[in-house]
Amino acid sequence: MEQYAIKGGNPLVGEVEIGGAKNAALPILAASVMTDETVYIDNIPDVRDTKVLTKAMQNIGVMVKHDGRHRVVINASQIHDLVVEDDYIKKIRASYYLLGALLGKYKRAEVALPGGCDIGCRAIDQHIKGFKALGAEVWIEHGLIKTKAERLVGCNIYMDVVSVGATINVMMAASMAEGQTTIENAAKEPHVVDLANFLNSMGANIKGAGTDVIRIKGVKKFHGTEYTIIPDQIEAGTFMFAAAVTKGDVTVKNVIPKHLESISSKLLEIGCEIEEADDCLRVVSSKPLNHTHVKTLPYPGFPTDMQPQITVALALAGGTSIVTESIFENRFKYVDELTRMGANIKVEGNTAIINGVPRYTGASVSSPDLRAGAALVLAGLAAEGITVVDDIHYIERGYEDFHLKLQSLGAQIEIVNSERELQKFKLKIG
Ligand code: UD1
Repeated sequence: MEQYAIKGGNPLVGEVEIGGAKNAALPILAASVMTDETVYIDNIPDVRDTKVLTKAMQNIGVMVKHDGRHRVVINASQIHDLVVEDDYIKKIRASYYLLGALLGKYKRAEVALPGGCDIGCRAIDQHIKGFKALGAEVWIEHGLIKTKAERLVGCNIYMDVVSVGATINVMMAASMAEGQTTIENAAKEPHVVDLANFLNSMGANIKGAGTDVIRIKGVKKFHGTEYTIIPDQIEAGTFMFAAAVTKGDVTVKNVIPKHLESISSKLLEIGCEIEEADDCLRVVSSKPLNHTHVKTLPYPGFPTDMQPQITVALALAGGTSIVTESIFENRFKYVDELTRMGANIKVEGNTAIINGVPRYTGASVSSPDLRAGAALVLAGLAAEGITVVDDIHYIERGYEDFHLKLQSLGAQIEIVNSERELQKFKLKIG
C-alpha cells in the first residue's frame, strides 16, 4: 500500500502551478451529458475523483476522450443506460450530479447512493426536496436513488440548509424544466458559479449564481461548448498553508485571488505576509505564527475543506486558538493523528481548542479523509524527523501530483510502497 514518506524541516520555497478545481470539474463533467453535441473541457484536474466519474459516464455510453492530460472531449449522444451503478461511483460524492443532469435531459435517472469522505452525516434531503418540487418522483431502492418525471416544471425552492451539492443538482435539473425556477438560500461557492457559467455556455438561462438567489429559465435543448474550469481554491489554500507551517515563501500561480480571500486573511492574522497579483499569490512566513479563531462557513466564509490545514498551522502558533467546524459534524478525526505528532488539541463537539506547541515530531499517521490527509502531509513537512502518511489514496482523490509539486518547492517527500522502500528513503535523505 502506497504511503508518503516525508522528512520535515525544509522551508518550502518557489512557485507552484494550481490545477483546475475538482469540485467544479465534477459537476461540469456530469452536466456535459445534457447535450448531444460535443463539449470540450479544459483544465480538468487529473485526480482520482474525475477519473471515476468519467469512467461511470463511459459505462452508460458517453464518449469521453482525453486530448492531453487536462482536456477532455465529451459526446453524450449515444447514452444507452440511465442507471449508473458502477462499483466505484459509490465511493465518490459527486456521482449524484449525474442524477440532476440525467433527470434534466431524460426525465429519468438511477444512480448509486453516494459515498465520499466520511466527515459526518451527509444528508441528501435537500436534493430530493428540490427534485420533488420540480415535479419528479424520487425514491431509494436497492442502494440506488431513483427519480423520474413526466415533466419538470419550474418552481420556487427554498433550501433549508446552504448546500453546494443540492444547489448544483437542482440547478442542473431546473435548467431543462418548463418555466422559471428560483432557488433561494443557494450556495455561493465559486464552483456553483462555474457550473452556472458552463450551463449558460451550452445555452441555459441561469442568473444570480454567486448570490443566494439563483433564477433559472428552463430551455428545451443545450448545444455544444468549449469551457475552461476555474483554478482549485482548496489546492491553492493547501499550498499557502504549506508555506505558513514550513516558514516558507511560496507563490501559487494560476489562481483567482478573490476566491482565496478568507484563506489569505487568516494567513495575515497569524502573521504571514501576502503579496497579490492578477493570477498569483505569494505567501511568506518569516515570523512565529500567532493564534487566532476560525469558524468554517459556506462561501465566502472560511471553507470547511481548509479546516484541517489551518488547524495544523494553529497547533504550531503561540497561544490558544479555537477552530469551530459548522458544516460537518465529524471533521476532527485527524486530531488524534496530529496529537501523535505532538499537537496539543482538545476537541469538544464541533470545536477544537488548540494550545500551540513549538514543533511537531515525525510519526506514522493515517489519512482519515482527503483534506485531513493533505493536512497531515503539511504537519509532516513542518515536523522534526520522518513522518509516514498512510491511506494516501484519499489524498489522490483531490490533489494532482501532490508530492511532485511539493518536491518542486524543496520538500523531501516520496511515495513508498514497502518497508524496504521506506528504509531506502531514510538512507537517502540521511
Ligand atoms: C461539497 C464539496 C465538499 C465541501 C462541501 C462544503 C464537492 C464534490 N464536495 O460537498 O468538498 O466540503 O461542499 O463546502 O463539491 N446537507 C443537508 N441536506 C442535503 C445536503 C447537505 O443537510 O441535502 C448538509 C450537509 O450534511 C452539510 C451541509 O449541508 O452539513 C453542507 O453540505 P453540502 O454543501 O451539500 O456539501 P457537499 O455538496 O456534499
